Amino acid sequence: MAIALEKFQQQGGRIATDDLDFDAFRSDPLHPDVLRCLAYMHDIEYQTVLYTREMLMTKAWKDPEMTGFITLWNYEEYWHGQALGQVLAAHDIPAHQPRLVAMRSWNEHYLRWSPALFWFLGTAIGSFPAVHMTWGAINEWTANAGYNRLALIADHPVLTELLGRIMRQEGRHAAFYAAKARDLLIDDRRAQRVTRWFLRHQWEPVGSGDVPKLETDFTTAYLFGGVEGGELVDRVEARIDALPGLRGLNLVRPAIAASIAAMLVV
Ligand SMILES: [Fe+2]
Ligand SMILES: [Fe+2]
Repeated sequence: MAIALEKFQQQGGRIATDDLDFDAFRSDPLHPDVLRCLAYMHDIEYQTVLYTREMLMTKAWKDPEMTGFITLWNYEEYWHGQALGQVLAAHDIPAHQPRLVAMRSWNEHYLRWSPALFWFLGTAIGSFPAVHMTWGAINEWTANAGYNRLALIADHPVLTELLGRIMRQEGRHAAFYAAKARDLLIDDRRAQRVTRWFLRHQWEPVGSGDVPKLETDFTTAYLFGGVEGGELVDRVEARIDALPGLRGLNLVRPAIAASIAAMLVV
């Protein structure tokens, strides 16, 4: 049963950052590798508005609960991007609009056509909402695991507090997506088959294709390459396994292994 939109309205909104001391990064800066991951996350958080554009090309527009969720989700993710941009700016790394202009121009060809692609998929494939909701849940789970790892690796009090606040919102996003996915997958063998096919053949870590592959590989390998990262990935795999009809996909582990292998040859 999907979580109520009212709960989302009551608990959601712009993430609080006014009380955080971003100047602390000037005297106690983050490691360049941590900043590279943060830049990746900044880009992907801000990309949510373009994911929104794609979602609204599917039949999601028909369901007021979905459009309500998309509105609030998009707003919250925007402020995640804004907050991470403040961390980058405190290290004199370009953030916000200049990064996004460059990113959208790099990916212009795909972005020009992606609404048409999603319209086609959403119209031609009856079970596409199940694919989309499952995909969203996996991306939120992996984003949450990524923030968890980054906070532990960086071990900086201001970043830990900021990422903790972001993670609480990501957890709600994941819960909504997963509940919707469960509703659409349960007792629907066709939806399960279609979703398994898309995940197996098309799924890649969140942000793949939005930024150069090297950045996805770096962030994925850096955050999940070690033992602690592997344990978090196991938890994500267990959550995917628990969705109706999706047991045994083994989706995230091979993607991480591929990123690690790609980084070894760079
Ligand atoms: Fe986010
Ligand atoms: Fe999220």
